[in-house]
Amino acid sequence: MTEQPDRAAWFEGGEAKCDVPPSARERSYRLVLLGPPGVGKGTQAELLCKALGTCHLSTGDVFRAAQCQSEHSPALRTALEAMRRGELVSDGLVVSMVSERSGCLSCYGGFLLDGFPRTVAQAEALDELLDQQGVRLDSVLSYELPLHEIVDRLSGRRTCSKCKAVFHVTARPPHKEGVCDQCGGQLIQREDDRPESIRVRMQAYEESKRPLADYYAQTGRLLSITAGGTPEAILERSLAALQASAVATRT
Ligand code: AP5
Repeated sequence: MTEQPDRAAWFEGGEAKCDVPPSARERSYRLVLLGPPGVGKGTQAELLCKALGTCHLSTGDVFRAAQCQSEHSPALRTALEAMRRGELVSDGLVVSMVSERSGCLSCYGGFLLDGFPRTVAQAEALDELLDQQGVRLDSVLSYELPLHEIVDRLSGRRTCSKCKAVFHVTARPPHKEGVCDQCGGQLIQREDDRPESIRVRMQAYEESKRPLADYYAQTGRLLSITAGGTPEAILERSLAALQASAVATRT
């Protein structure tokens, strides 16, 4: 058994399990991160996972890992083309991809979903999957930032081609240009960080954000977080919001 959750089961899907024992944590957090492309969800996910011991489950990372496979089913090929253009992948395909990995939702280490759900249909499907797994979502952290700062974050982003760690050319530069601090892998610019794809991604986000935020606000699970400042300052804000919400739930 592993004391720490790792992401292998999430990437592999099917029967793969990471088997964190029930005693691993005093409490497990089950969270969703919402926010526009480039607001810093992946960066916060990494910091929150270290602070809370949860596992980072990103649907975008699973699709990007699938890009490297030599053969793609017709459905996956359609999904990857949509992703390259900056459009959303169909609800059906995303939900079945998450369903194949639903064991990760009941892991004793907890989870932090990043990039899923993105539509109300996906949020409803997630609630059903959580019911089936006998667990409940604690909170939804929704990050907000003005558009010009988002464009700056996206255009300077560099991602490790091996371990997927995220850097920024000025705000979070690697020690050696073009090389990942964590594994020595090559840093690359994501295909969908081209200006024409960024525009489509922002539009897709704008169309879905209000209904999705309303869906979670109705059940008191939405926590709005200002995403300006350093990653560490935003982490502090996120942890404080989680703590305040836990206190409010108890009283
Ligand atoms: P996905 O991988 O989910 O991407 P996204 O939502 O567009 O978000 P990003 O990964 O671009 O940004 P982020 O918020 O994580 O920011 P980051 O931390 O990297 O989805 C990609 C595509 O997959 C979608 O377009 C769609 O096609 C498909 N897809 C995935 N899930 C789907 C779903 N459920 N349904 C349908 N389609 C789906 O930060 C950005 C940069 O800013 C980095 O360089 C970082 O170093 C820097 N930075 C971070 N924080 C700070 C800070 N505080 N100050 C300065 N710089 C910072």
